[in-house]
Amino acid sequence: MPVTVVVCVKERVSGSSCAGSGGVALADAVERELARQELPIGVKRIFCLGQCEQGPNLRIAPGGAFFRRMTMARLGEVVEAARVAYEQARDQAP
Ligand code: FES
Repeated sequence: MPVTVVVCVKERVSGSSCAGSGGVALADAVERELARQELPIGVKRIFCLGQCEQGPNLRIAPGGAFFRRMTMARLGEVVEAARVAYEQARDQAP
């Protein structure tokens, strides 16, 4: 099963939202870094991970780490977690 970085890019007029705290820029940055490292991992932009007060949020799918209050400074953590998930999935493939 392919590994994907799922990034919330929900925007709300009022109240907390991941787009309002930088989710779109994070999605773009994750995409660029995965491409720069030539990792075959996609980025999927979705509209809520159910933890809006703690955004921007993203997670590694399937079943991987969940990152809350993500910042650009911590982007490397996400890319590394995605890389590890990708390698595990690749090594377990029949
Ligand atoms: S708006 Fe991002 S988790 Fe709900």
